[in-house]
Amino acid sequence: MSDIAYVNGAYLPLAEARVSILDRGFLFADGVYEVAAVVGGRLIDNDAHLSRLENSLRELRIDNAPPIQTIANVEAELVARNGLSEGLVYLQITRGASNDRDFGFPSGTTPTIVAFAKKKNIVASPAAETGVKVLTVPDLRWARRNIKTVALLAQVLAKQAALDAGCQEAWMVDRDGLVTEGSSSTAFIVTKADALVTRPNSPAILPGCTRKAVQSLAAREGLTIEERGFSVAEAYEAKEAFLTSASNLVLPVVSIDERPIGSGAPGERARLLRSLYIEWATKPVATR
Ligand code: PDD
Repeated sequence: MSDIAYVNGAYLPLAEARVSILDRGFLFADGVYEVAAVVGGRLIDNDAHLSRLENSLRELRIDNAPPIQTIANVEAELVARNGLSEGLVYLQITRGASNDRDFGFPSGTTPTIVAFAKKKNIVASPAAETGVKVLTVPDLRWARRNIKTVALLAQVLAKQAALDAGCQEAWMVDRDGLVTEGSSSTAFIVTKADALVTRPNSPAILPGCTRKAVQSLAAREGLTIEERGFSVAEAYEAKEAFLTSASNLVLPVVSIDERPIGSGAPGERARLLRSLYIEWATKPVATR
């Protein structure tokens, strides 16, 4: 079956999906996106992603996008049309295309909405068994990282630096030496005193949907959570480290800048939280 994408009201083969070169997403990164996981043929934790999408649209003042339920229906329809049982749905909304390349908001444009689905083994992921290696890099991004915009160049460069160094993720570090987050994930450490530490939500980071769910599952288990910044030096000394994201759920981090974290093998807390998250996310919403 060929991959089916969605562009402005139409479902069509991915290879035929097109938008205008005047689209403001292309010219100015003037748009927002979401990535939600599909497990067992269902979008998981998608209400959280949709509510963050609404917030991103509000922040950029893209005020004429369709109602969120319409967007949810598009995502569900894409899952069905692609026969997707496990993977990701990517959805992007830009301010649309106008006739000119004007910096100010054009009047009368309709937002461009595109979406596609991608098969990926996220539950039976090899990286969950081996863990991932992290490289720290300076955080070069703008000041409003809580908005999930398609302006991702700093993250692209960060991820490539990590890949070039034989790592799988980059942790970005602010001017005070504190870790902000991963290039496409939230960063956590577990201290020697067994507290989970992650940076508090603020414009410095994206408020991760997986982060939020994992934090409440951890609290339910009676684990201590400290929302505060942590330095690279503290991360080196941590008992464990892990990352969370829709595309990888919970993944253990086994080294940072080539220094093994803890025993250098996936940690107990990361394994526990990964299995709790998968169990939670795949349950019918009413029974969570
Ligand atoms: N990225 N921080 C950043 C910078 C991210 O790009 C992401 C997700 C996260 C984790 O958020 P969530 O748990 O809601 O997925 C944190 C997605 C997966 C991506 O761009 O592919």
